[in-house]
Amino acid sequence: MRPRMGAVPISLPGAATLLQASPASPSSFPSNFVWGAAAAAYQIEGAVHEDGRGTSIWDTFSHTPGKVLNGDSGDVACDHYHRWREDLALMRELGVGAYRFSIAWPRIIPDGRTEANAAGLDWYERLVDGLLENGIQPWATLYHWDLPQPLEDAGGWPSADTADAFAHYAEAVGRRLGDRVHNWITLNEPWCSAFLGYQIGVHAPGKRDPRLALAATHTLLLAHGRAVEILRSTSPSARVGIVLNPAHVEPATTDEADVAAARRADGYHNRWFLEPLYGRGYPADMLDHFAPHFAPPPDADLRVIAAPTDFLGVNYYRPTIVRADPTDAFLGARSVQSPDDPVTQMDWVVRPSSLRQLLVRLHRDYSVGSLAVTENGAAYADPPAVDGHVHDPERTHYLAEHIDAVGQAIGDGVPVMAYFVWSLLDNFEWAQGYSNRFGVVHVDFATQQRTLKDSGRWYRSLIAPS
Ligand code: GCO
Repeated sequence: MRPRMGAVPISLPGAATLLQASPASPSSFPSNFVWGAAAAAYQIEGAVHEDGRGTSIWDTFSHTPGKVLNGDSGDVACDHYHRWREDLALMRELGVGAYRFSIAWPRIIPDGRTEANAAGLDWYERLVDGLLENGIQPWATLYHWDLPQPLEDAGGWPSADTADAFAHYAEAVGRRLGDRVHNWITLNEPWCSAFLGYQIGVHAPGKRDPRLALAATHTLLLAHGRAVEILRSTSPSARVGIVLNPAHVEPATTDEADVAAARRADGYHNRWFLEPLYGRGYPADMLDHFAPHFAPPPDADLRVIAAPTDFLGVNYYRPTIVRADPTDAFLGARSVQSPDDPVTQMDWVVRPSSLRQLLVRLHRDYSVGSLAVTENGAAYADPPAVDGHVHDPERTHYLAEHIDAVGQAIGDGVPVMAYFVWSLLDNFEWAQGYSNRFGVVHVDFATQQRTLKDSGRWYRSLIAPS
């Protein structure tokens, strides 16, 4: 029996034996639902000095002692720059319908401002053509955190000029690939670029200044709006969106202070980006809260930021539970979790129901068009590959429960059109280096040997056309 779309999910043979949860079957997803895998340039490509590539802020940051665990860097990563055909074969073996990758700005405009680098454009053209030849939709992210270092030296994301440089970069990419890429993402997680990079300082460029961080959020959103306009002209038949990492925020208790802290955290993680993107300008409560560090921008900027888009990409991993914290000068709040909560190797709480609630809220509160889960996955301490197998049941369980939550959101009436597992390959996990593996394909970084994990075999069976 094939349940109608949105019906109560049924257990899948095979997967169900692995899981307590009964995962949504693909038949409870729209017939044109896109099943994909995601990755990002600096995390997998390597070849950081090849074919004219310029330096990015992550090259600088990862080579700064003490910034990345074990002194790891993306210098080699998964050597995807040279092994992309092998990785394409893996995508074909998985049976994914789409591959979400990012384009390295420093490969395209090495100094960030002037000439486009033909060798860089050529490489992405080969990748895109290879994907299309294999019936895999390319979903291209213009910016996944690898800002050209010369732009950072000139002020970085806090400087409005960087939006102009981003527009120049988007134009170069759109002109070359706009006829073949039909799903564009302008930015990946501007919250991380701005707040991890310029306020908390654990990501490149590693600065800690709320004023710079808030200025960076505005330039990033301006850059997004400029790129949307450019992609509309260079890629007229394409869908264009942005990827955020919105948080499903809950107060730790019903105490007034915790509820107020959760509201501020919702403003900081979510509404600061969602409200301007969907035409409402920056939220008044957060403008008041951030007033010492941020002056409301001109309406002309807000009009650029609110350029209509076709979808919102959602990266979801865990819930955000918040308690008031008067010692936190910036927000007066901190995330908390119970020692009883199930967690991944990143110590991230596993709660698939929060994904469903998040998707329902985004659809209810904002005119997002469609939604795509553009990243979802988990790091666990996988065993080494033995005889061509990597047994990772916890990851399979995590994926099944979260895919089930997406199916339930669809059943709630939320127009989710795609799910991308994070990640195709074990890769460079930013400040954690190679210590946390998210792939459904294991990578032996000493030999670059790839091995499909049990979770990859499960995902393949789940998404295979029935
Ligand atoms: C993010 C980034 C990815 C991460 C993944 C696991 O969402 O932080 O897009 O590059 O590697 O999320 O942390």
